[in-house]
Amino acid sequence: MDWGKQNRMDRIIRPDGHTLMLAVDHGYFLGPTSGLEKPRKMIMSLAPYADCLMPTRGVLRNCVDTNIDIPVVLRVSGGTSVIGKELLHEGITVSMKDAVRLNVAGVAFSIMVGSEYERDTILGLSQVVDQAEEYGIPVVAVTAVGKEMARDDRYFALASRIAAEHGASIVKTYYCDRFERVVDTCTVPVVIAGGKKLPEMEALEMAYKAIEAGAAGVDMGRNIFQADNPVAMIKAVRAIVHEKATPREAYNILKANSRKKK
Ligand code: 5RP
Repeated sequence: MDWGKQNRMDRIIRPDGHTLMLAVDHGYFLGPTSGLEKPRKMIMSLAPYADCLMPTRGVLRNCVDTNIDIPVVLRVSGGTSVIGKELLHEGITVSMKDAVRLNVAGVAFSIMVGSEYERDTILGLSQVVDQAEEYGIPVVAVTAVGKEMARDDRYFALASRIAAEHGASIVKTYYCDRFERVVDTCTVPVVIAGGKKLPEMEALEMAYKAIEAGAAGVDMGRNIFQADNPVAMIKAVRAIVHEKATPREAYNILKANSRKKK
């Protein structure tokens, strides 16, 4: 791998092989979602505890300080919204030239395997990979999942492998039972999304089980920024990702930090 791309990968996935990516891209299809109504304040308070930030270009330009020392994986897919008819039909929303201008460490693109629009989204991923490879930029493929799809290891292994086969350098997918199968059959590192807000202990258990199953880390959003105390929550997740903390130990970190002033 060329130095530039390897350097970007090394900045996203830390030397211990793990990463805590902070997903704050939700506005691109959800608008001002709870916790990110004022993105700057939330992002700047959480960034010191994250290894990587995943925003849209709008949030990056308008709400993130330029002197921040954190790699950025930029969301480059979208074009549909939660109130539209076709949420599972995203296309390319950012040129690679603009991604380079924004000094990104990686770009993120969603594919919708098994949906009516899987072909468009997989071809979109291939196009983004072609463009990104020219500059040595890793692509994080996100395996988005529709309501009608089975959220099991068979589906996520299939979708993740398809993403890797089309050139993704990292796959972001969802945790499920028998997650080892998803990780073991994917030829690139796998990170999990957090999904909808869960009770904090459940989110910590999910992160723990994903790491135990071989995931490189988490790319978590709502379960961090919608927590009662987001800073305490990201510290707890960080302990699981980088310090081998058990869910109980992480929960204790969450509680101890929750007592401190928010
Ligand atoms: C959509 C996404 C989200 O925008 C986001 O990154 C997911 O993060 P979380 O589920 O942890 O809130 O990837 O497909």
